[in-house]
Amino acid sequence: MLQIGLIGTGYWGPNLAKSFELTGKAEVRWLCDLDSRRLEQLSQKYPHAHATSELSKLLGAKDLDAVAISTPAGTHYEIARQALEANKHLLVEKPITLNSKEALQLIRVAEKRELILMVGHVFEYNFTIRALKNLMDSGELGEIHYLNFERTNLGPVRTDVNALWDLASHDISIMCYLLDGAPKDVTARGQAFLNADVEDTVFATFTFLKDIIAQVSASWLNPRKVRQITAVGSKKMAIWNDLDLQSPIQIYDKRVEEPAEIPDTFDGYKTAVVDGGVYIPHIDQNQPLLAECEHFIECVARGERPQSDGYSGLRVVQALEAATASMKNQSKITLIKAEPGDDHKPRVSMKDKQRLDHFVDVVHANLSAEHTRWRDSGSKTAGARAK
Ligand SMILES: NC(=O)c1ccc[n+]([C@@H]2O[C@H](COP(=O)([O-])OP(=O)(O)OC[C@H]3O[C@@H](n4cnc5c(N)ncnc54)[C@H](O)[C@@H]3O)[C@@H](O)[C@H]2O)c1
Repeated sequence: MLQIGLIGTGYWGPNLAKSFELTGKAEVRWLCDLDSRRLEQLSQKYPHAHATSELSKLLGAKDLDAVAISTPAGTHYEIARQALEANKHLLVEKPITLNSKEALQLIRVAEKRELILMVGHVFEYNFTIRALKNLMDSGELGEIHYLNFERTNLGPVRTDVNALWDLASHDISIMCYLLDGAPKDVTARGQAFLNADVEDTVFATFTFLKDIIAQVSASWLNPRKVRQITAVGSKKMAIWNDLDLQSPIQIYDKRVEEPAEIPDTFDGYKTAVVDGGVYIPHIDQNQPLLAECEHFIECVARGERPQSDGYSGLRVVQALEAATASMKNQSKITLIKAEPGDDHKPRVSMKDKQRLDHFVDVVHANLSAEHTRWRDSGSKTAGARAK
């Protein structure tokens, strides 16, 4: 049983504590927060845990194997550094730090001490995101042209970091995961309406290898909660909608095919549009935060590198830094540094690999006709041409 300490018992911390204990493989032994009211509230749910406002007390506990940090982003580096120097395995919330230099320092300390360093990029543990990756990797969508990310809501409004660092950090981790690498450059624009210098709304465009474009719109000043990704490929297109529990992924059998002859009329162009309808694969869903906590426990037990390790946290921070520089420089296209010497390829544990392989099979099985629900927007025959 992994003995874990939680630092930060605000909004997200209690979810981490609950998920760790739900695994049945970890016990929350220590809780730490500067806010005594929040600390007291969570302590009531975990009477077996010590509660303290002093970080040194928690870190000094000999029986503690690991620490989870869920404090505001600006405090991550200092708390994380101390936790690693106290020889605790570490799960730190996203973003790992507010600059890449500090992220790299944490990576080095963890490497030197042979400790697990994992970042809470929770969407990388979401089965529906994994399904989308599988679709893209399997060639089902054809060659990927571009990705469009929308992450909006009315609130929660943060004052410590802007919408780029708070909201778009999720999308950057997802796009790097989906495209197996870091972006090359970015152009970004943001506006602060509610608090001076804290952008509530950000638009950023990242370029990846093969010139795949990934566009993000992130805002906490928007009437509608949207969590959506559109993936446009040469053969098909897919929409991932995190808020649609019934059909989180819809596959559009739509594309424009090169006609035998170049059309010189609008009717000619329309014959080149293939509209084979929309289909909805059945996808087994999971509890992403529970999967994230299980993965952390497994990595600690086996000494294996996590999916969202320090380097994956670093590449997100490097992309965020470049987007920030672009925002400050009239949206200038800004190159993104890549940390040399790391392929960013996560070492997936055996158990995870088996689960992923199984998952890939499940998605493929579910893409077969009998498991697939069709929603017609044209013909039900894939490849049929609309008039
Ligand atoms: N993965 C996700 O989907 C997700 C969702 C929400 C938040 N988060 C991340 O979780 C972290 C916390 O966010 P939140 O919304 O819970 O914030 P919050 O403000 O609700 O909670 C933060 C808590 O940390 C405490 N704290 C601050 N400094 C401290 C210190 N030095 N020592 C001990 N406690 C300290 C505060 O008193 C507060 O209770 C952030 O990094 C955020 O990005 C992640």
